[in-house]
Amino acid sequence: MKRTDLEGKVAIVTGSSKGIGKAIAIALAAKKVKIVLNGRDAEKLEQTAREISSSGYEVFPIQGDVGIYSDCEKLIKQTVEKYGTLDILINNAGLSMEGSIGNTSPEVFEKVIHTNILGVIYPTKAALPYLMKTNGSVIFTGSIAGFMGLPNYSAYSASKMSLTAIVQSLKIELEGTGVHVGINYVGFAENPSDKTFLNQNGEIEQVPIREQFKRMPLQEIANIFVKGIEKRRYKQTPSLLGKTTNIAQRFFPTFFEWLMTRKYKTEKAAVG
Ligand SMILES: NC(=O)c1ccc[n+]([C@@H]2O[C@H](COP(=O)([O-])OP(=O)(O)OC[C@H]3O[C@@H](n4cnc5c(N)ncnc54)[C@H](OP(=O)(O)O)[C@@H]3O)[C@@H](O)[C@H]2O)c1
Repeated sequence: MKRTDLEGKVAIVTGSSKGIGKAIAIALAAKKVKIVLNGRDAEKLEQTAREISSSGYEVFPIQGDVGIYSDCEKLIKQTVEKYGTLDILINNAGLSMEGSIGNTSPEVFEKVIHTNILGVIYPTKAALPYLMKTNGSVIFTGSIAGFMGLPNYSAYSASKMSLTAIVQSLKIELEGTGVHVGINYVGFAENPSDKTFLNQNGEIEQVPIREQFKRMPLQEIANIFVKGIEKRRYKQTPSLLGKTTNIAQRFFPTFFEWLMTRKYKTEKAAVG
């Protein structure tokens, strides 16, 4: 299989001012990739850029919202103006939510669906002409929540499930162009203290610690992304929980649904 030598390549990582995106940016920068950081909050983005460049890595922050097409065009244009080319796009920016369909405000669904679906299509569309010139890679941050509709995460699950459809379409559309398409179905990550989600009223809340699940360190997740790009892999499911969930919902769907229903009812009863 063809292998990509990452040294000197140019990569955009959307949603890289913190969390998984920041970890991917650092892991790629350590391989001598020139990194374009992205996020909506300009101050946070600058702070992350300073932090990463102080370790001697090449980073360039470009503020923008992946859900706005003109911001995505600007992201690509400024990257190419700065570095002359684009080799890798990592569609990582995403929002999470929590709340049942019955109790959650319509704005939460709109925000999550808009950011997590259009927010990967828009940067990809804007980047494709450049990725085609470089036989580059376009990578998506999926989730094990995209294997099955999870209770209280309907819009999030739907958005992450739709990534599978997007990469399937894209892979066929790009057949023969030399562009590599990849998706990583990430399991529970070791969320840093600044990890947030939208509650059912659309308010930003801090994510609680999920002690019941083994959470993957961000660096470990990031290294899997890097290896996937180097080896030009299509689909990766890094965690054991992810692999088990995928097999369970595919081959034992009734049992898996029963298990999820039982867990949901127990948790609901505990909350009261
Ligand atoms: N954490 C997990 O356990 C987990 C598991 C599976 C998959 N994932 C996926 O991994 C990705 C990153 O998640 P994370 O946990 O690292 O989240 P996070 O810590 O909340 O970071 C999200 C990043 O995305 C940026 N962002 C959000 N909306 C954006 C927008 N519209 N345009 C541009 N940037 C935007 C944020 O910066 P601003 O707010 O400043 O824009 C931030 O840099 C997401 O796609 C998520 O679904 C996470």
